[in-house]
Order: sequence, then structure tokens, then C-alpha cells
Amino acid sequence: GITRHYKFNIVMQNVTRLCQTKSIVTVNGKIPGPRIIAREGDRLLIKVVNLVQYNVTLHWHGVRQRRSGWADGPAYITQCPIQTGQTYLYNFTVTGQRGTLFWHAHISWLRVTLYGSFVILPKKNASYPFPQPHKEVPIIFGEWWKADTETIINQATQTGGAPNVSDAFTINGLPGPLYNCSAKDTFKLKVEPGKTYLLRLINAALNDQLFFSIANHSLTVVETDAVYVKPFKSHIVLITPGQTTNVLLEAKATPPNATFLMAARPYATGPAAFDNTTTSGILEYEKPSVSNSKNKKHPLLKPSLPAFNDTTFSMKFSQKIRSLATAKFPAKVPKKIDRRFFFTVGLGTLPCSQNQTCQGPNNNRVAASINNVSFVQPNVALLQAHFFNQSKGVYTTDFPANPPFKFNYTGTPPSNIMATTGTKVVVLPFNTNVELVLQDTTIILAESHPLHLHGFNFFVVGQGFGNFNSSKDPAKFNLVDPAERNTVGVPSGGWVAIRFLADNPGVWFMHCHLEVHTSWGLKMAWVVMDGIRHNQKLPPPPSDLPKC
Ligand code: C2O
Ligand code: CU
Repeated sequence: GITRHYKFNIVMQNVTRLCQTKSIVTVNGKIPGPRIIAREGDRLLIKVVNLVQYNVTLHWHGVRQRRSGWADGPAYITQCPIQTGQTYLYNFTVTGQRGTLFWHAHISWLRVTLYGSFVILPKKNASYPFPQPHKEVPIIFGEWWKADTETIINQATQTGGAPNVSDAFTINGLPGPLYNCSAKDTFKLKVEPGKTYLLRLINAALNDQLFFSIANHSLTVVETDAVYVKPFKSHIVLITPGQTTNVLLEAKATPPNATFLMAARPYATGPAAFDNTTTSGILEYEKPSVSNSKNKKHPLLKPSLPAFNDTTFSMKFSQKIRSLATAKFPAKVPKKIDRRFFFTVGLGTLPCSQNQTCQGPNNNRVAASINNVSFVQPNVALLQAHFFNQSKGVYTTDFPANPPFKFNYTGTPPSNIMATTGTKVVVLPFNTNVELVLQDTTIILAESHPLHLHGFNFFVVGQGFGNFNSSKDPAKFNLVDPAERNTVGVPSGGWVAIRFLADNPGVWFMHCHLEVHTSWGLKMAWVVMDGIRHNQKLPPPPSDLPKC
């Protein structure tokens, strides 16, 4: 591979959307930020210069970061923030993966405006396992708030109630014609009949899973989270925050000058995030396929999308995603498991801090937790504390492998469940084969949580509604061609089982990719030890690693 250099200046920029101008944090003045393109095997050197009044870190979402954990980016997990005026060089190689990923800020809620696509092309002379597309087009979903970022964060984290919902969803930074005064802020995709296009769908929204569809066109899903899948057709794609999905779009023969609406709107199982709005863009045929082009106007055709709470669609769609599992692209599913974990994920409450009024149940503050532990962000980075053997006072290694008490997770919850707090991790020896069942709970309410794991891909070996049954469900696990991903939606009122091989030394964050739930504590970290005998050691930190 070659070395590719990028310079990311973090700067403020005035941007107008929904008829209002505000100053936002950007990379190089753009929203979405610059696209990173590399080939499998390339080294990336991304120099980030912080020229704003906020602390910043960037994360390369889905990049495996083999033995390069210092470049992963989550604030206070693998690095201290890049402070105003400081610079940090993210230095890593993209190996063993190709496809669509993205990058985003990984501190506070700054990823609301700091995000962009990250495309890893196959090695030179390697081809896609599907027809070569005529063009490749990133389509990034985002959210737009009229309020400034700090107001939004404070609302979500301090009053302890539901967060503000965004004022618009966006496609490539643009809300589209269904929002007020946004007709000119519309993403347009021009296509030629008979050609095939690869759409690289990325959900960079903060708090909403999205349904996406294009009127009168079916999409062929060919890749998820930068892993090829068995192609399947679907009119509608469901994509959670943190997920990426490549689809092929065939531009077919159409009447002259036909236009079609592409649209995305939330799939929401909790009440907080749903705001009943739709972002849209336009698919426009460049050349009429019929010769008698009289420039006649055709009505704009709109796609139909599932109901906002269509949990059945969500489950079915997720189950269609299967690894290629071929000789060239094998599914290396761990078969012999060394450690089993059962984590409940969900909402709960914590006491309201003094001198505040909280809006959660019983005047408490709403929290979110894994195995009832609501994660407390440390003041120094966990990876440094681990590497220099200074974990004392920073984190403890007693993250529970099972919930502290059993109950009917998807039935009526016990009254008064208060979460506990702590900065707890699980320590895994190098090359541990892990099985992890993630179980949604109905404390406060059932909700689908898009769980994201840093540093690894995992295999989605099983999922279902209700409570996981450890004596019956494992028999039905798919160990042949399960989806391999970095983010999976834990079904609302259900469970999902994943497996991964802990072959990457470092500290790896795992969290709900709904920003509001991350802020509320639905996060934890895995510490994977060096593979001394395998010569798989995490190298020492780079000299410019920011200090806290
Ligand atoms: Cu896309 Cu921890 O993040
Ligand atoms: Cu969540």
C-alpha cells in the first residue's frame, strides 16, 4: 500500500439551513466534512489541527485499528482530547477490510457536525464480488439542529429528561424539499438509464435509526459495515446510527425527465427521538430513455416507508443480512467459546444531583446502563492508564459478566431500579473467543439500541424477541454465514447474540450509537491484553498524543 496524507483543520463556519444561519464546528469548513479515500493496505496520516474553542477528537468508525489503538479516537478511552491550538497526527493502516465506513468526532455531541465518509477501495486489481458500478455515490444521513450544540447537550445531560429532537434530518448535509425553505438545499443524484450505481449509505445521525427508500426503484444490498454480504433486493433499507450499507441502484428505462424522490425518516421504538420528519433528495434521469423528449413535466414520485415503529420490518431486514462466506471472503465465526457474557442494555434512573430539578421518573435523572452499570467517563484516557500500568483510581476490572439481578427483562420491570455508576472494564487475554448476548430491558421502556464495538468486527449469530433463552436459543445460532459487522441493533424488547475474537490488544469502547444513550452511560470498555507469545503487542503511544 501507499501512504496518504490528509489535513483536517477544525474551524468554525457559518452555515445556513432551514432559513437560519449559525456558526458550526467543521473540518475544513465543510459539512459533511472531507471524504477519505484509501485502498486496502494503505497507511493514512491524518493531521488534525484544532482551531476552535472546543476540545476535539476524531474516530475512524469501523476501522479495525490493528495494533494502532492510539489512533482510534474516543475521548478519554484511547486518548485525551486535542485542545485548542493543538495538533494530533492519526496514523494507521487499513488492512483486511474494504468498503464504506465513516469518520466522526468522538467527544461530547460534536459529531452532530463533524462527520464524513471513509471509503476503502479493494486492492489494485481486486474487483467487487458484484457488477462494477458506473459510479459510486456516498449518501450520508445526518441531523440538523437550529439550537447551538451546547444547548442541546445540556438539555440531554443535565435536566435528566428526554433530549431535544433535531429540527431536520439531512442527506449529505441537506434537508431536502419536504422541509421549510429547503428546496434549494436538496441533494440531487443524476443517473443515466441502463447504468448501475453504488450508493454508499452512511447513518451519521445522532439519535435515530432510519428507513431509506427511492420511489419505484428496488435496491440490492451488497455490503454492510465494510463487509460484503450475499446480495438481496429490498425496496427499503434500515440503517442504524453507526451502520453503513452499500446498495446497487439500477437506473432503468423511464419516461423522459422523470424524477423520483429518495427519502429517509426515523425508525423509532422509544418516544424521545421520534420527530416525524423526513429528509429527501431527488433522483433525476439525465437522458430520457425514450426518444420523444418533449420536456414534459412528470410528477415527482414518492417512496413509501414503513410505520415509524415497525419492529417486525426491522427484525426481518436484519435477518436477511448474511456474510458471503466464500473461500475468498470466509466468515471466520468463533466456534469454540472461551468466555460468555450476558449484558442487559437499557434505560434506568440515577438520583438527580442537588440543586437541580430532573425530569425523569420520580424526579430522578434518566440514565442508561449495561448490566445496570452506568459508565462514568474518566479524567484520563483508559488506554494510557492501561499501557503504563496506572489503572489505580482510573478504572476497575470488575465489569459484571451477568446482570446483578434477574427479572423478566422484557415484561413488567421491577419498580424502582436505580442504576449504579462506575468506570468498569472487562479484561480479556489475547485471542479470547467471546460470545456476548445483548438483552434489551423494558425498564422505563423497550427500545432498540444500536450497539457499536470499536476495534473488532463481530458476527451476529442470533437474535429474537423476548428474553434470551440460554438452553434453547443457542441451538439455533447461525455459525455458517452470519452478518459480520461493527454495529448491531439490539431488537426492541429482544436480544442479539454476537461473537468475536479478541485478537487486537488495546482498550476498546463499546456503546450505544444513539448519542443520547451514550451520554446517559450506555457504554463500557474491553481491555485486550498483549499477545506476547504471538508477538502481537500494542506499540507505545506516539510522542504527540494529547495530554489531559
Ligand atoms: Cu461511531 Cu464509538 O463510535
Ligand atoms: Cu441506546
